[in-house]
Amino acid sequence: MAGPHAKLSELGEATPVRVDVDGVPVCLVRLGDTVKAVHDTCSHQQWSLSDDGMVWGNGVECSLHGSTFDLDDGRPSSLPATTPIPTFAVRLDGDAVTVDVADATNDAPFPEH
Ligand code: FES
Repeated sequence: MAGPHAKLSELGEATPVRVDVDGVPVCLVRLGDTVKAVHDTCSHQQWSLSDDGMVWGNGVECSLHGSTFDLDDGRPSSLPATTPIPTFAVRLDGDAVTVDVADATNDAPFPEH
């Protein structure tokens, strides 16, 4: 795990940011004083969710075909994706944001890429 993987003060509100955590691409989204972490790879066609992804409420929308994934349970709320993405525990310690990719908070399958 190690880390920290990002600084809270450098994360823009509701703006997806990709970080590498132990070789796993992770999409971080700051919502106020909290940070959500999901696998960065869309379960539809492996697009990067942080690549121009839009945040709507508690979801991140894939910019390729528009599926939106819940940031807490990883479930897609709209087609074409039908498979959830992994979500991860985030630890905040002052400005330090640390993600534990060994501690998925749902049971979604890990994407291939
Ligand atoms: S690749 Fe994300 S919805 Fe198609």
